[in-house]
Amino acid sequence: MTAIGIRARNLRLRLAGDRDVLHDVSLAAPPGSVLVIAGASGAGKTTLLEVLAGVRPPDEGTVTHGGRPPAPRAGGFGYVPQDDIVHRDLPLSRTLRYAAELRLPAGTPAEDVGAAVRRALADLGLTGVADQRVGVLSGGERKRASIAVELLTRPRVLFLDEPTSGLDPAAGAALLGLLRALANQGTTIILTTHTPADLLRADSVAFLAPGGRLVYRGAPEGLLKHFGTDSVEEAYGAAAEAPSVSNEIEGPDEQPIAETASSSTSELPKPIGPLRQWWLLTRRSAEILARNRLSAAVLVGSPIVIIAMFAMLFRPGVFDPGSLDPASTAMICFWIAFGAFFFGLTYGLLQICTELPIVRRERLTVLRLGPYLLAKTAILLPVLVAADALLLAVLRLLNRLPAAGWGVYGSLFGTAVLASAAALALGLLASAAVAEPGQATLMLPLLCFPQVLFSGAFVPVPRMSGLGSGLSWAMTNRWAFEALGSGVRLDERWAHGASPMGPPLLTSYGDTFAHSAGRGWLWLGGFTVLFLAAAWAVLAHKCRRAAR
Ligand SMILES: Nc1ncnc2c1ncn2[C@@H]1O[C@H](COP(=O)(O)OP(=O)(O)OP(=O)(O)O)[C@@H](O)[C@H]1O
Ligand SMILES: [Mg+2]
Repeated sequence: MTAIGIRARNLRLRLAGDRDVLHDVSLAAPPGSVLVIAGASGAGKTTLLEVLAGVRPPDEGTVTHGGRPPAPRAGGFGYVPQDDIVHRDLPLSRTLRYAAELRLPAGTPAEDVGAAVRRALADLGLTGVADQRVGVLSGGERKRASIAVELLTRPRVLFLDEPTSGLDPAAGAALLGLLRALANQGTTIILTTHTPADLLRADSVAFLAPGGRLVYRGAPEGLLKHFGTDSVEEAYGAAAEAPSVSNEIEGPDEQPIAETASSSTSELPKPIGPLRQWWLLTRRSAEILARNRLSAAVLVGSPIVIIAMFAMLFRPGVFDPGSLDPASTAMICFWIAFGAFFFGLTYGLLQICTELPIVRRERLTVLRLGPYLLAKTAILLPVLVAADALLLAVLRLLNRLPAAGWGVYGSLFGTAVLASAAALALGLLASAAVAEPGQATLMLPLLCFPQVLFSGAFVPVPRMSGLGSGLSWAMTNRWAFEALGSGVRLDERWAHGASPMGPPLLTSYGDTFAHSAGRGWLWLGGFTVLFLAAAWAVLAHKCRRAAR
């Protein structure tokens, strides 16, 4: 592996209100070296690390990795964020196994994946806790687990934000030793720290003063002399008053290595393709769901409770021509539509917001958002299909739905599944859009209310105001309700049934059920695609906006 250097020239980053977070910072980490960034809390270390990694663009200045602009997603890149961001529901060894399968090149044999996981566990002293759930690990163990994820691939450039915080002094020293060994093998390493001992173990130190000014750049041995202090701790105080260092960095800029078959980016192995990634993410999501008993219980339990309530609500036989109750038949169609919608929405809403930091972290390197979203769909859609089938079967067995052939039930089932799929996609979109899980819970009533009001079930579309009927076009519940009504031929039943209420109801609903169910399916399918695409765009935007 050819080691590559990292160079930054005149970096400047300004926040709203003209506050500098980085003030004209220039530095260089030679190939295969360890550079430590130190400085007071809030001085801008994390920000500088993100800019150096290329995951956050500066307002001014340039960064190069091996003479080229940073390309984190091209491979050979690792970033360990300040917070330990890993799935908590899986055992550590499973988490690392999935991370390895996601990051290692396509075609890596299974035994090599296993070996990489065992090596990362051993390197970070985690072999003893490999079978523990990540959620129960100690803070320091979780920190090391988060680092282990990026060590699986032996990257060419590795950025770590406070990797030693939360570690005992011996573990911190061991980690620095491990990073030094990695650097010797050709990985260029930049890390931030609050631990004075780390500074002395680095090849070079960059010291930031508040306001993002670089006040020292050079060998660790020169640090105390530069600030005229006796200890690293005192240097923190002296740094605030120290002048910024000059922007002249020694050595010529690295020339980008020519693109030949044996060098540069073509040297990097190809990551796994989108289909394999989808399959891997599907398996991982399924395992996480299965291991989190509470969410699995909610997933299975909530449709059962709702179906039981539907069964209790309606009286039997309302579809029979002899005892036809037109209003009830319309309500049964609506509640099937709404039930299918509600299942899908609740399944989707908590999926992404609960793991957004992980998505962002993995997106820095390998994750593709298309396979990620489709993996969520692949896990949840079969559960929804089962819930919809159960809903229809229970209502039919209890005679809340009419005796009819497979054609009619096939149509009802198709509508229910599409309604659930569209709602799932809407839930995923909302889940991607909110800032935290608490907001997702608030979204539930906000998304349900208009779907009830403008479905056309309570106020038929022909009776709505112009604005209302315009809005109803955007409601998946409207299309599901109409397709279900058309599927059970509500209009024929009302026109020919024994109830005198049929014909007037038919007049007020107008041509609501006159179209084929297929029209509703097209709308539902279209909304599913639209919502998924929007979820993709929102996620892509969130991942781009900031690394944290
Ligand atoms: N996206 C942002 N929006 C607002 N303020 C920001 C943003 N990013 C960074 N800052 C501010 O920039 C300053 C530097 O932040 P940074 O996280 O880089 O500090 P740090 O040196 O890593 O601190 P610590 O040692 O506590 O981790 C802080 O005052 C922070 O509030
Ligand atoms: Mg920080």
